[in-house]
Amino acid sequence: MAKLAPSILSADFGRLAEQIAAVEGEADLLHLDVMDGHFVPPISFGAEVVRAIRRRTRLFLDVHLMVRNPDQHVAPFVEAGADGVTVHVEVCPHLHRTLQRIREAGARAGVALNPSTPFDHSEQVLGDCDLVLLMSVNPGFGGQQFIPFVEGKIAAARGRLQALGAACELEVDGGIKPENCRAVAAAGASILVIGSAVFGSPDPAASLREIRRRLKGAS
Ligand code: DX5
Ligand code: ZN
Repeated sequence: MAKLAPSILSADFGRLAEQIAAVEGEADLLHLDVMDGHFVPPISFGAEVVRAIRRRTRLFLDVHLMVRNPDQHVAPFVEAGADGVTVHVEVCPHLHRTLQRIREAGARAGVALNPSTPFDHSEQVLGDCDLVLLMSVNPGFGGQQFIPFVEGKIAAARGRLQALGAACELEVDGGIKPENCRAVAAAGASILVIGSAVFGSPDPAASLREIRRRLKGAS
C-alpha cells in the first residue's frame, strides 16, 4: 500500500497546529513545501516554521525544497527538524555533492524532477538518495490538475528502479485526488503527496481515510 504524505501548503496557516493534529493518526509523512519566490513564483515558509511544526508532531517531516540555491538551505532545515530533504535536479549542478550534504547532515536525501525533466537525470545518483520525487504538476501551487503524461513516466521510473535494483522510494506530488490515487499507485508510486484534496476539505482525516479506502480497491 502506498504511503500518504499530506502537504500543508493547502492548510489554514492560522491554525496549522490543529490541522496537523487532525492528520497525525492517518498520515505516514508530513510534506512541507518550501518555496523561495525564485525557483517558483510564491514564497511559502522557511526553517523556523519547520522548527515550530517539529515541536507539534512525531510525523516524518518530508521537506520539499523548491528553491534556487538548495545547498545553502540543507543544514538549516535539517537542524530545524527535517527528517528528509528533497532538492530539485534542475537547480543542482553538483547534485551528487548536494545529496551527500543532506545525508551527512543526518537526513534522508531526495531528488525531485519537474514533469518535463526526464527520469534519467536522476539515474547516476540513485545509490546516493533515498527518494525520487516526480512532480505531476509544475511546482509552485497547490490545487492544480495532474498532468496526464506523468502517469507513463511513473511506470517507466518504477521499471528503471526495479531493473537497476534501486531501493529508493518513488514519491509523486501534485494533482492527486481520491479519483486518481489508485492509478498513480498502480503505476508504481510508493508515496502519494496530497495537498488540496486533504487540507482543502472540511475533514482532512476523513479525506485521508477515503483515499486509503480507494487504494484498497473499494470504489
Ligand atoms: C506543488 C507542491 C505540492 C502541492 C500539492 O508545488 O509541491 O506538494 O502542495 O498540492 P495538490 O495536491 O493540491 O496538487
Ligand atoms: Zn511538494
